Amino acid sequence: MSQQSNSQDDKVGTVGRLLYLAGVLNMHVARLRSVSNFDFVVADLACYQDVLTRYAGKRLAEARALEIGYGQRPFRLIALNWIGTDAVGIDLDEPVYDLDLQRIARLLKANGVTRTTKSLVRRAIFDPSEYRKLSSVLRAEFGTGQPFDARRLLSGDASRPAVWSSISGELDLILSEDVFEHIPIERIPPVLEMMAKRMRGDSLAIIAPMIFTGISGGHDLDWYPHRVHEGLDGRTPPWGHLTRQSRPADTYLNELRRSDYRRLFERHFDILEEVDLYHRLGEHHLTGERRAQLAGYSDEDLFANKVRFVLRKR
Ligand SMILES: C[S@@+](CC[C@H](N)C(=O)[O-])C[C@H]1O[C@@H](n2cnc3c(N)ncnc32)[C@H](O)[C@@H]1O
Repeated sequence: MSQQSNSQDDKVGTVGRLLYLAGVLNMHVARLRSVSNFDFVVADLACYQDVLTRYAGKRLAEARALEIGYGQRPFRLIALNWIGTDAVGIDLDEPVYDLDLQRIARLLKANGVTRTTKSLVRRAIFDPSEYRKLSSVLRAEFGTGQPFDARRLLSGDASRPAVWSSISGELDLILSEDVFEHIPIERIPPVLEMMAKRMRGDSLAIIAPMIFTGISGGHDLDWYPHRVHEGLDGRTPPWGHLTRQSRPADTYLNELRRSDYRRLFERHFDILEEVDLYHRLGEHHLTGERRAQLAGYSDEDLFANKVRFVLRKR
């Protein structure tokens, strides 16, 4: 991912990068001000429980689970362990949850000074209050829970066997949110193969990528789902990432369509569900003129944003 990030650095340029960082900072400040910002974690747990109940008759709190790509703040893993799920995570990046000097040195080596500084500032200034808020939301929702053990945060590439060797036995549930769009297409089959090896016939995977062809799929801060309803003034055209009218994303994107994911998943899995988490997002921006400029894309492509695939091993 760091090589991918470096080539993106050249494209985006310093000014673009500073604007992006300012946008990210702004989002963190807005999040700190908001009151119920962990509803999504509680909703995700409810969704995982619902899927496990319907297709496997299992309780989430008794399941063994893996999250692929838990990110810099492993909220879902903390919540899963809180309720009793035996959950671990794999992420390409070094976790910053529990920092010591050795880890900071590894971060600097892997991510360079800018990304490491961003991570450290976020960990020191913003994260403590977020984790406190998360604990109080979880306590209110589920009662007293298990403390989180940072050794559950594994670091490595989920497309390589090495990191999987630290996880013993079979898993009831594998989940991944907003991750697969960042994995190069040729690395996705090995991830799926490794997942299938750790699943039984009654295990499930919930994989929810943000699909490139949707209005939010370009990962442009101007077009994040919560901003889609705003007017057009001062921002790039809708679906500008498909017409090369917007700035390149600050992150690597594999640009897969929904049909590409289906094809990849179906090699190992039956797709039990495919749920659009946003219904026809941005439809009011799809004027006749804009539709004509996007003629190479179907409605299914243009309205696919975050899609949740529920998979069962064949
Ligand atoms: C956009 S973040 C999403 C984080 C988290 N799932 C969330 O919903 O906030 C994508 C994460 O996927 C991780 N990732 C990308 N490719 C990966 C791979 N091949 N193996 C493991 N993690 C990967 C990145 O390091 C990053 O933390």
